[in-house]
Amino acid sequence: MKLLVINGPNLNMLGIREPNIYGRQDYNALCDLIRETCSDLGIQVEIYQSNHEGAIVDRIQQAYGQMDGIVINPAAYTHTSVAILDALKSVALPAVEVHLSDVDQREAFRHISYAGMACETRFKGLGFQGYVEAIRYLHQKYAKRSA
Ligand code: DQA
Repeated sequence: MKLLVINGPNLNMLGIREPNIYGRQDYNALCDLIRETCSDLGIQVEIYQSNHEGAIVDRIQQAYGQMDGIVINPAAYTHTSVAILDALKSVALPAVEVHLSDVDQREAFRHISYAGMACETRFKGLGFQGYVEAIRYLHQKYAKRSA
């Protein structure tokens, strides 16, 4: 199984940005956990981070016919980007939305998720563990499909 993990703007600042909300562990620690989780499950993973909406759209499009699933934390673009929603719908790959924080318990503008409308499920408010859950979800789905 080949999995693409996409992280949106400012997630490269983990460990520095608002540690009371996002924790003290940095982006490399998140990537290490994602790689370790995927390696344990025999998943080939690519991790992509960008601060640019169009670059994220490009990366989603490139996944078409190449990847078996997408885990995405679109960060602030979650709440604004119809372009990322449309890109996810275009490639029609199984996708799961992740948020480190519980966006529904925060400001009202974080309650809407455009990207989430193209995702099968979401894990929020679990910190880094949300990525592990999302990877497991897609792995289980893929295993069932190929059984
Ligand atoms: C976030 C939540 C978003 O509202 C915010 O803009 C982020 C991170 C999260 O992981 O909790 O940058 O997606």
